[in-house]
Amino acid sequence: MTRHLLEIDDLDPTRVERLIGRALAWKADPASVPRPLAGQGVALVFEKPSTRTRSSSEMAVVTLGGHPIYIRPDEIGLDVRESVEDVARTLAGYCSVIAARTFAHGTLERMVSVVDVPVVNLLSDLAHPCQALADLITLRAHFGAIEGRRLAYLGDGTNVAASLAFACAFTGMEFAIASPAGYELPDDIADRVRDLGGTVEQFSDPFDAARDADALYTDVWTSMGQEAEQAQRRAAFVGYTIDHALLGAALPDAVFLHCLPAHRGEEVAADVIDGSRSLVWPQAANRMDAMRALLVDLLEENA
Ligand code: CP
Ligand code: NVA
Repeated sequence: MTRHLLEIDDLDPTRVERLIGRALAWKADPASVPRPLAGQGVALVFEKPSTRTRSSSEMAVVTLGGHPIYIRPDEIGLDVRESVEDVARTLAGYCSVIAARTFAHGTLERMVSVVDVPVVNLLSDLAHPCQALADLITLRAHFGAIEGRRLAYLGDGTNVAASLAFACAFTGMEFAIASPAGYELPDDIADRVRDLGGTVEQFSDPFDAARDADALYTDVWTSMGQEAEQAQRRAAFVGYTIDHALLGAALPDAVFLHCLPAHRGEEVAADVIDGSRSLVWPQAANRMDAMRALLVDLLEENA
């Protein structure tokens, strides 16, 4: 059976550990990066905009010796020009991996159901596993051992929050989350994370979640596709801006993380994201290292 990556729990703790190790080793010594994709293509299908995911994926594929094929949202027309299944079957004829950013998570599952090349989730409504892998690499590079550390996520219970919760479970980190009513992490995701042995502590007061945290993390309040709800969301999230007061509630050496794009003055204060405890630029750079290690893992697992 082909192994895919739709959410972090498609991996296991051993694979995650190996992936972090390789990503950091290859980052430190680019000459040691293998070229298992030589002569092969990787399809990068996007239904939504992207800065980091598209660029980091393209460079990961190139440095592994392969050819990335970026497919724009307007040219692919999933289920408009032809069905998701027909697009996936066609791309699998040319490419060793299909990676896709979709509105509905179910679109990725439909791809998985018809191809025998690995499918990688580049962000769906439910998950953003490639981001979470980069986040783990960032925390490991900064702290060394991360087992037992506490990550507090403040804000909307998004795709990014969900994948982070799984990532913490697989690395022995505590996961705490504070969200306003109606914007919590979905219960079924919290249950799945707990079933894997992870912790999910849920709060409504962001100061309660931030207490004793090693890292504070946030994501936008209005995700792609939710633009019509922006005013309502801005009102609901008042008090959740990560500013110096909230950062001060965490441990003295706590760091700040954000998947980006960021909205200064909304989910994060400018002097926090641009301050000395922010790791957002190495975090963004680590997207490429994460993707490289992930692609090699999937190629090996499916060999
Ligand atoms: N963090 C992230 O996925 O960024 P992009 O939307 O720019 O790819
Ligand atoms: N939750 C955000 C993440 C962007 C990287 C979104 O889905 O738009």
